[in-house]
Amino acid sequence: MLPVATKLFMKQFSAKVLKNCQIADNFLELTLSANEPVSVPLPGQFLTIRVSSSTTPLLRRPFAYAGVTQNSTEFSIIYQKRGNATEILAGKQIGESVDCIGPLGNSFPFPGQNETAILIAGGVGIGPILFFAEGLARKKTPFIFVFGCRTSSLVPDTPAFLKLNPIICTDDGSRGFKGTTADYLQTTNSTIPEKSIFYGCGPGRMLEACYRFANARNAQCWVSVEQVMACGVGACMGCAVKVKTEQKFLRACKEGPVFDANLLVWEEPTK
Ligand SMILES: Cc1cc2nc3c(=O)[nH]c(=O)nc-3n(C[C@H](O)[C@H](O)[C@H](O)COP(=O)(O)OP(=O)(O)OC[C@H]3O[C@@H](n4cnc5c(N)ncnc54)[C@H](O)[C@@H]3O)c2cc1C
Ligand code: FES
Repeated sequence: MLPVATKLFMKQFSAKVLKNCQIADNFLELTLSANEPVSVPLPGQFLTIRVSSSTTPLLRRPFAYAGVTQNSTEFSIIYQKRGNATEILAGKQIGESVDCIGPLGNSFPFPGQNETAILIAGGVGIGPILFFAEGLARKKTPFIFVFGCRTSSLVPDTPAFLKLNPIICTDDGSRGFKGTTADYLQTTNSTIPEKSIFYGCGPGRMLEACYRFANARNAQCWVSVEQVMACGVGACMGCAVKVKTEQKFLRACKEGPVFDANLLVWEEPTK
């Protein structure tokens, strides 16, 4: 197992919009080009974007990298329109600039030799998992990519997504497997390679289900948490997650956002 990447050199930079288009209901893909040399991010890392020079919204918003062109300053994020900042972001036109800080946080550790990566993504968790899957495919590391969402209109039918052969799960069965990603894992449990390592990004309940599934198989599980953040650089504890160690809390923006799921405090399973 390779160690989780240490922090790369992060900096504040301005980036120009190259593309900002809808890829599913309420989901857009934004491609940016940094106006100066920046560190190449690793899958799992994120950047913060100041979407407007006005005072509202005041805080930068964190988004995980969804892809980057090799040795280049172009990168993308996949985001969901949720509130003020993401509405403003959705209105950005080609050629407009946004203020960014990145790359921030740690990254997904690569699987060890002969391990298969089981990648589980849901909702806005798709970006970093897609980025990671592309890296695994390039290195010819075996992986299974499971994507879950409520209904077919939320599936991002982009070439980058489809070429990774995702197993699509929808809650209402309108596309692919009917049920959650956890339901899918349960039904295919016996076919999942014994030497597997799990990675999840998405809603908390999905991450917990992924962790419990992996734990039952004595497999390692890494999750990327998408805590609400304030400063984004480790100064405010606004993104603290509960851990089982003496420290009690770790910062998602600094020690994370990728954590060994076994380190996190999960609620007791509901009976
Ligand atoms: C490390 C990290 C990576 C992220 N990566 C992505 C990404 O790749 N794509 C993406 O779409 N979003 C991502 N997010 C979440 C993103 O930061 C929020 O969606 C965004 O800040 C919302 O801003 P807003 O002003 O549009 O919404 P707000 O007005 O701030 O919030 C609108 C609604 O969304 C809820 N909300 C806001 N932030 C979060 C959050 N982090 N988790 C759950 N609910 C939230 C609020 O409680 C509120 O109900 C990431 C967050 C973190 C911490
Ligand atoms: S958001 Fe301030 S410490 Fe993480």
